[in-house]
Amino acid sequence: MINMVDLHCHLLAGLDDGPRNWDDSLAMCRILAEQGVSHVAALAHQCERWNVQGDSIRVAVNELRQKIADARIQLEVHAAAEVMACPDLLTRWKMGKLVSLGDHGRHLLVEMPHGVFVDLRSTVRQFTQIGVRIILAHPELYPELLHEPGTIEELIHLGCLVQISTKSVTNPETKEDSKALRDWIRRGCVHFLGSDGHSPRKRQPLVIAAYKKIVDWTNESMAKDICFQNGLRVLKGQPVHVKTPAVERRWWSVLRLW
Ligand SMILES: [Fe+2]
Repeated sequence: MINMVDLHCHLLAGLDDGPRNWDDSLAMCRILAEQGVSHVAALAHQCERWNVQGDSIRVAVNELRQKIADARIQLEVHAAAEVMACPDLLTRWKMGKLVSLGDHGRHLLVEMPHGVFVDLRSTVRQFTQIGVRIILAHPELYPELLHEPGTIEELIHLGCLVQISTKSVTNPETKEDSKALRDWIRRGCVHFLGSDGHSPRKRQPLVIAAYKKIVDWTNESMAKDICFQNGLRVLKGQPVHVKTPAVERRWWSVLRLW
């Protein structure tokens, strides 16, 4: 069976818009384990709407670990949060209010405010300076990043890492989105995969089909880095070393050189 990491899954019962109860959480854990996921970032939103306290996440993760052990499900869960970008993000981090991926204090999963594109360059710079890497959650959902040549590369250059959602790989909104995402992956602009699962029914934590498509688009070695190796390092608190993305090859970027 393929070993995989899901770096973005709402698994904690009753904390946010994820599973409503522990039965649903466990059903999601079974879905993950059956696909070969061995490690998952069990997260909750830390944003205006769902401002879940860090200790609530940690307590819920410990409770889930116990339930997983009782149910004999082969899955390791790691505390995490999906933090919404805001002007006082660094202050909130320094106050200890935010939960990093794996709770090691090295990688913070950050999402854009819903439906709004914000320039994250200064945020990425500030966190890089204090030794924390921002991992951008599903940036492919923002056309300003996916279809604007050079923008994601600049964030990566500043220290940012990129997590995409499985659904963007398997069920993209448009053909253009699919092509652009494939291009990102091939050029090394994508570092992690996450299901963004919320429930065992409507928004299931599905990863295997996306993994297979990434293998088709690239090769097994690159797919394993994105779907397993890089995420495992983050969840263990180890640094992730990534290459500089390859040069843009879309025809209009060639024109820009003239
Ligand atoms: Fe999410």
